[in-house]
Amino acid sequence: MSTLRDLAEEHTRLRPADIDHLHRIAGDWQLLSDLSFADLLLWVPVDGDGSFLCVAQVRPTTAPTAYLDDQVGRIVGGPEVAHLEVAHRQGRIWREGDPVWYGDVPARHEAIPVRLRTTDGEAGEVIAVVGRDTNLSTARTPSQLELNYLTTADDLAQMIADGTFPPPRHPGETTSAPRVGDGLVRLDAGGKVTYASPNAQSAYRRLGYASHLVGEDLAALHRRLASDPLEGTDAANGILAALRGEAPPRREIDARGATMLTRALPLMPAGVPIGALVLVRDITEVRRRDRALITKDATIREIHHRVKNNLQTVAALLRLQARRVSMPEARVALEESVRRVASIALVHETLSMSSDEAVEFDGIVDRVASAATEVAATEATVGMRREGSFGVLPAEVATSLVMVLNELLLNAVEHGFPSDAETATAEAGSATPATPAPAAAGPVAAEVVVSAHRFRKMLHVSVTDNGRGLPPDFDAERGGNLGLQIVRALITGELRGTIELRDGAKGGTEATLVVPLARSAPDGRSAG
Ligand SMILES: Nc1ncnc2c1ncn2[C@@H]1O[C@H](COP(=O)(O)OP(=O)(O)OP(=O)(O)O)[C@@H](O)[C@H]1O
Ligand SMILES: [Mg+2]
Repeated sequence: MSTLRDLAEEHTRLRPADIDHLHRIAGDWQLLSDLSFADLLLWVPVDGDGSFLCVAQVRPTTAPTAYLDDQVGRIVGGPEVAHLEVAHRQGRIWREGDPVWYGDVPARHEAIPVRLRTTDGEAGEVIAVVGRDTNLSTARTPSQLELNYLTTADDLAQMIADGTFPPPRHPGETTSAPRVGDGLVRLDAGGKVTYASPNAQSAYRRLGYASHLVGEDLAALHRRLASDPLEGTDAANGILAALRGEAPPRREIDARGATMLTRALPLMPAGVPIGALVLVRDITEVRRRDRALITKDATIREIHHRVKNNLQTVAALLRLQARRVSMPEARVALEESVRRVASIALVHETLSMSSDEAVEFDGIVDRVASAATEVAATEATVGMRREGSFGVLPAEVATSLVMVLNELLLNAVEHGFPSDAETATAEAGSATPATPAPAAAGPVAAEVVVSAHRFRKMLHVSVTDNGRGLPPDFDAERGGNLGLQIVRALITGELRGTIELRDGAKGGTEATLVVPLARSAPDGRSAG
């Protein structure tokens, strides 16, 4: 679907500042739609031919819609838009005329000109028309609430025609603004409440104010209610600013453990300040959840920190034991366990410092890689290089993947570039090897390359060495000892990915992994 901007740029001669104003209208007009119990359509005159194009639409949340179909993108000319034409040309709100029928829905049409004030505050010209169309099929005798809503709606409609609604935005307002249905209070020019909707009344009750709001001085009430005097003064000043015709930022009031979000809007049809509209929403639960989340985050970080400490203790114990055993094989096995445990600790260390359950993985890979080179059995040093980036990985992927990479890197260093003694025994065992060791062909620098890139929600990783390659009789699907068993179990289990081990294109060995990153299930496990 085309956006408001696309449509306006394609079909009209509106300037960027005009289009920005239309965006502001569409950002704030749910309020008018709800108060009017009516659909609002934003129409712009099409360049040259007297027809109008609908660039935006909003349905009321307080009443049935007059349009079941989407109207955006429609271009209409002739009698159907004659009322828009009057509002546009004469710059006044048009509301005469008989009901019209959409299929079997009777509707009342109104047209509100949209004026953009000039930068020096002059009235400016009409740039568009808001069609206000009410579904009349359910119209009843209006209640107190409906009468108050409709009066306020008419004030706001006039302010659109004057160019004083919507008010300027305040940057950084993240919580969505309170809506009409959340609670609405109307004030007269002196700041006294003339109407409070039942939901507004309930919101104030939660703050500890049980009497009727009508007749109250709302600014004074806010000052009295707020537990924090500074917050109370601030909230009162917001109301006073709106009464002066300014648009203050949204404010929160805390009292008696409850929190209320308020938005005060000036009412000044035809430029005369006649009072203010205050929308209120009880956000106690939202704030409680925010606070709970913050403590939960801190707790999770602390747990990762302790897991890391415990793993380091385990590693230290194993290292101690490795020093004591005399059998070389047992010592090697224990030392390997030390490295395995240490690599997991690394992930938890990173998690304990991050604010969410995700880690920047490149740093971890680099540390595991440099630890692997230290165990190289050869006198010649093995170079380690990372190409591309792993990016940020979710915790559960990171813990499994670091173990996999640890095994593959150790294999590359240990078996790709074995010490001379090992080479001798290995060659004695196998008669004429199928592929001559490329390392023997010349002084090629021993190197292991880890490369990573993301493509279509998949992480592609390869660990390549230019060593002596897999043994000739090696079964790439099933062969191997504990190391490759761990790798396959993690890849096909936790990570739900695939792994291939093969001879490298230029000798050596290449392991390639593909791991899906899209986790659809909210509990963090992949679906499926
Ligand atoms: N990069 C490599 N270059 C050459 N041979 C390799 C490479 N990776 C694995 N191999 C071969 O595959 C075998 C199995 O590897 P695996 O990691 O499962 O066991 P391991 O390294 O021998 O012992 P550990 O269980 O301690 O890891 C190795 O013994 C080696 O022969
Ligand atoms: Mg191994």
